[in-house]
Amino acid sequence: MSPTTAASSAESTSSATGSTLEVKQVTLAFGGVVALSDISLSVAEGALQAIIGPNGAGKTSLFNCLTGYYRPSSGSIVYAGRVLDGLAPPDIAALGIRRTFQNIRVFPRMTVQENVLAGAHLRAVAGLPAILFGSPGWRRTERSLREDADRWIEFVGLADQRRRAAGDLAYGMRKRMEIARAMIGNPGLLLLDEPAAGVSSVEREALSDLIARVHAQGVGVVMIEHDVELVMNLATNVCVLDGGRLLTSGPPETVRSNPDVIRAYMGRRRK
Ligand SMILES: Nc1ncnc2c1ncn2[C@@H]1O[C@H](COP(=O)(O)OP(=O)(O)OP(=O)(O)O)[C@@H](O)[C@H]1O
Ligand SMILES: [Mg+2]
Repeated sequence: MSPTTAASSAESTSSATGSTLEVKQVTLAFGGVVALSDISLSVAEGALQAIIGPNGAGKTSLFNCLTGYYRPSSGSIVYAGRVLDGLAPPDIAALGIRRTFQNIRVFPRMTVQENVLAGAHLRAVAGLPAILFGSPGWRRTERSLREDADRWIEFVGLADQRRRAAGDLAYGMRKRMEIARAMIGNPGLLLLDEPAAGVSSVEREALSDLIARVHAQGVGVVMIEHDVELVMNLATNVCVLDGGRLLTSGPPETVRSNPDVIRAYMGRRRK
């Protein structure tokens, strides 16, 4: 997938047709710790949904269930009509759910371009012999993937960093690189785990703008975020987790003034 202009973004939506996410009564336990308790929610195709909640609420655990890193103890997850239960992370990525990580995962010695290309490997259909012997078909595929990578690198504002080692980038830039790596995989749904945590206020503005532009490409976005202002500006719907339970969900203004939500945040130290 290449970034589209605003004029053609409606066309790109077609790749996400019917890509509703449904989480049905998901429970996840680690021994005695119940990280998620009977969570049911749905994310409409092309939505921009936020998930908030105090530390330890189960937000990242939910993402890990959605992407195959954790297996729920019970319940079911359906995306675009496909049941995801039991699928491994690469299979789920290939179905169109891509993510970034709370603790950034980059290949520090590889360049920005190589890191972004690593997100495209699921799309490369050539077999191993074609790759090893550099067949014309594979070279064409590789060239077009590189072009896509460069377009996404430019889209996230890192064109001048393309050949730098990812480990040398400032933290906020690495976060943007992770978004490019997810987007080259042509997702219908992008999961962002605290995209603005730990970055400067200038970077936060840039990330907020980037998330809005990604969404404008017709991609559904679910973002875990502690920054209330960012959530209120971007999200059309907010889910609140607390102690592994879904406390409430609804439009940002309604959730913000919900007494249960205010109580959940009071007396707890935020990061
Ligand atoms: N692999 C694991 N093994 C054991 N317990 C885990 C594991 N992963 C998460 N937990 C526990 O599940 C609960 C929810 O953790 P999770 O990381 O999902 O919270 P979170 O809402 O993302 O918090 P934060 O805002 O701090 O990132 C916590 O009690 C955590 O210790
Ligand atoms: Mg987390």
